[in-house]
Amino acid sequence: MILVLDFGGQYNQLIARRVRENNVYCEVHTALSMEKIRALQPEGIILTGGPQSVYENNSLLPPKEIFELGVPILGICYGAQAMAHVLGGVVKPAAVSEYGKTEVEVVGASKIFVGVEKKSVAWMSHTDRIFSAPENFVVTAATKNCPVAAMENPAKNFYAVQFHPEVVHTVEGAKIFSNFVDVCGCRRDWKMSSFVADTIAQLKNKIGGGKVLCALSGGVDSSVAAVLLSKAVGKNLTCVFVDHGLLRKNEAAEVEEVFSKFDLNFIKVDASERFLNKLRGVVEPERKRKIIGEEFIRVFEEVSKKIGAVDYLVQGTIYPDVIESGLGKSAVIKSHHNVGGLPDFVDFKEIVEPLRLLFKDEVRQAGRELGLPENIVSRQPFPGPGLGIRIIGEVTAEKVKIVQEADAIYREEIFKAGVDKNLAQYFAALTNMRSVGVMGDGRTYDCAIALRAVLTSDFMTAEAAQIPWEVLSVVANRIVNEVRGVNRVLYDCTSKPPATIEFE
Ligand code: XMP
Repeated sequence: MILVLDFGGQYNQLIARRVRENNVYCEVHTALSMEKIRALQPEGIILTGGPQSVYENNSLLPPKEIFELGVPILGICYGAQAMAHVLGGVVKPAAVSEYGKTEVEVVGASKIFVGVEKKSVAWMSHTDRIFSAPENFVVTAATKNCPVAAMENPAKNFYAVQFHPEVVHTVEGAKIFSNFVDVCGCRRDWKMSSFVADTIAQLKNKIGGGKVLCALSGGVDSSVAAVLLSKAVGKNLTCVFVDHGLLRKNEAAEVEEVFSKFDLNFIKVDASERFLNKLRGVVEPERKRKIIGEEFIRVFEEVSKKIGAVDYLVQGTIYPDVIESGLGKSAVIKSHHNVGGLPDFVDFKEIVEPLRLLFKDEVRQAGRELGLPENIVSRQPFPGPGLGIRIIGEVTAEKVKIVQEADAIYREEIFKAGVDKNLAQYFAALTNMRSVGVMGDGRTYDCAIALRAVLTSDFMTAEAAQIPWEVLSVVANRIVNEVRGVNRVLYDCTSKPPATIEFE
């Protein structure tokens, strides 16, 4: 495995992704002691970027002893400067900071630049730079304003790059990671099939005959986690699927059908009425979110009381959540609700998180390995409060039906046109606007549906997607013709920020 020591850079998850693309297992950790680093037995170490300056008093630096482990080390941006600083080089503020795409020239032979073009574009983002390299280091790349854009000690396999090879704008980035993995001598045998088989074996071993409870949302993460557990413990797993009535069209039936085929106890609770009653008259978005979140927990709690004490509770936590919570970065713009927030309410001994080491696309791959159908595996993100936050204002059964029908048409047409593959998320929402229209010879005064489609990889920022006009006009036509109560269809062109992806 390769260990990524995280100094708080914004691209740290991408570094781990780049390593794993080479079929090499990789973990990201912050501020590890030498004892822990040794215990992980890394075959190589990567030091990430970070917002600090190495010469500040309390800057986070790697322990000097990592340079005595005898393993290759790659420092990136701040990590490069930290390597220089710890080993006796000089880092100071640069006269000219570099930000963005910058031409880098390779000026010396290097094992990590094998196959890399002599001149190429790389992504820079720094205000400090290495002024002199430590003893036994040679400079291997430069830019116009940064004479030490890369340096290395070839005898020790220490490499440092001032630019960010993990960012797509660095044209030769993938080659650099591939070369580093070779320098580390990694076997490139981290495969999803072996991850799945190993995880099932570990879960069997750990859980034995214990009882396991899983709150299933039908989303990718909880579905894959549930199937892993089902393969490990079979009927000792109980999955509770709460249908809050705010799911997409046919979703509850689809989830039930898929899970009835696996070896587990599946309990579906139809709680639509309960949720609608609680939401009656409520228009304020945060109140709606809180009500749906709380009611979800109440229902889950009631069902689990009937099941009795369990030994383990399954959570579909994935690696980005682990990395982010480790760094305490989560900013609360909206009170997010998902099936993750249950532990306080259920009597159990321990939490199992079988996906805590996987990225989203790896979770999807694991799902495919486990035989989950594509409609579950490639499912787009769907928020815990469901359509409740895609209906502006009060939620009623009638409005849920309208948004379900419109959304189903939109998704069907997007899929037919083959546009879905490029989109991170797309859905219909029901605005609280009514407007005048004309249908046949009569006047109508009906609702407006808003369509949204976004491009994003991190969901923290997003761009509105440019859906072909032909597709949008078919969707608009079908919605006003097929969905009663709608006479107008609008397309949301706003990016995030300033808008968010969901409407509430
Ligand atoms: P926003 O609307 O904040 O959404 O731009 C960002 C991403 O998060 C999803 N989302 C949620 N997911 N529980 C979830 O599990 C929630 O309460 C929730 N609210 C928003 C949203 O669909 C998008 O992918």
